[in-house]
Amino acid sequence: MSTLITNIGELVTNSPEPADGPGPPVAAGPGRPGEAAALAGAALIIEDGRVAWTGPASRAPAADQAVDCGGRAVLPGFVDSHAHLVFGGERSAEFAARMAGRPYQAGGIRSTVTATRAATDDELRANLRRLASEMLRQGTTTVECKSGYGLTVEAEQRSVALAAEVTPEVTFLGAHVVPPEYGDDPGGYVDLVCGPMLAACAPSAKWVDAFCERGAFGADEAAAVLAAGRQAGLMSRVHANQLGHGPGVQVAVAAGAASADHCTYLADDDVAALAGSDTVATLLPGVEFSTRQPYPDARRLLAAGATVALATDCNPGSCFTSSMPLVIALAVRELRMTTAEAVWAATAGGARALRRADVGHLGSGARADLVLLDAPSHAYLAYRPGVPLVAAVWQGGELVAGAVPAT
Ligand code: NIG
Ligand code: FE
Repeated sequence: MSTLITNIGELVTNSPEPADGPGPPVAAGPGRPGEAAALAGAALIIEDGRVAWTGPASRAPAADQAVDCGGRAVLPGFVDSHAHLVFGGERSAEFAARMAGRPYQAGGIRSTVTATRAATDDELRANLRRLASEMLRQGTTTVECKSGYGLTVEAEQRSVALAAEVTPEVTFLGAHVVPPEYGDDPGGYVDLVCGPMLAACAPSAKWVDAFCERGAFGADEAAAVLAAGRQAGLMSRVHANQLGHGPGVQVAVAAGAASADHCTYLADDDVAALAGSDTVATLLPGVEFSTRQPYPDARRLLAAGATVALATDCNPGSCFTSSMPLVIALAVRELRMTTAEAVWAATAGGARALRRADVGHLGSGARADLVLLDAPSHAYLAYRPGVPLVAAVWQGGELVAGAVPAT
């Protein structure tokens, strides 16, 4: 069964592939690396869950069925490469206190650990599924999901197993904070994480992460966790340089991590290390929005040649948004990214942060993960902040949210 998606006002492909044949389409965006490449007056064919063809609508081959986009924009589904969706409870009172002037210090993580340990499997599963479907409705077709609020062998194993029910991009974050029962023995906790906890979690996980920050884990501890994870077959990612300057980015780059996430406080050496490596700088501006911390300097990273991704960090503490459109709007307004850079970072950038070649773009052979906007161009995601612009979402070629007029 093939589907023609046609009358697309702007098709963001993020693909260097030439359009089909000579002549128009008009390039609506230049599409240099790091910027969304777009075609005007375009069409796309889905076959067997994959993108089979893109090009000018006037030259589209026949298909079994067709959808008329009415001149609206189509983009790759968003790739949210950083989220913490397995947790119990909520922390609205902490948020309200923060907005009344109390600083964010990540200490609230322990209150979510208490609530998560107390929750039943079904409570955690219901919360996780609600958030995952909230994401899908807002155009996120690939999401990464971390453990990290259990912090016992059993509770972490349960967290990664639940996360694996909703995504293949599961991250073991036993090294989130030292739990209270190990308060006077952080080394003993790192041994637990690298030993029995990792052994219990690795079968359900693809990634290992560590929160490398003052008050969480130091450089040696984080590096030990990543090395143990690598031994167990897990690839690395790091929570780095969120609350202050520190070694997180260097630890990430030295470990060959796919991504260093947050990157809010960077020294020149950190920027150079990211630019000179395959480690993506994943920026999470919803966190700075929700904690009133200074925003990361995206322009400095882009100017140095680093690859930048955008993600939500959806979690009950530092940022409880599931909305990639909001993150794009913040990146444009507050990080001074162009609309094309922000959309690229939220799609192709996220895919690079997850080392995925099949998502984040709409070149031939890509997974047919598409977002139809109720707007003529990707720029509206920032131009109309807070407006629900996602009209329809396809995942693997299936319409999974919204509605489209058939022709
Ligand atoms: O990415 N930085 C550490 N972990 C989360 C915060 C989690 C929380 O506050 O519960 C983060 O911001
Ligand atoms: Fe996080």
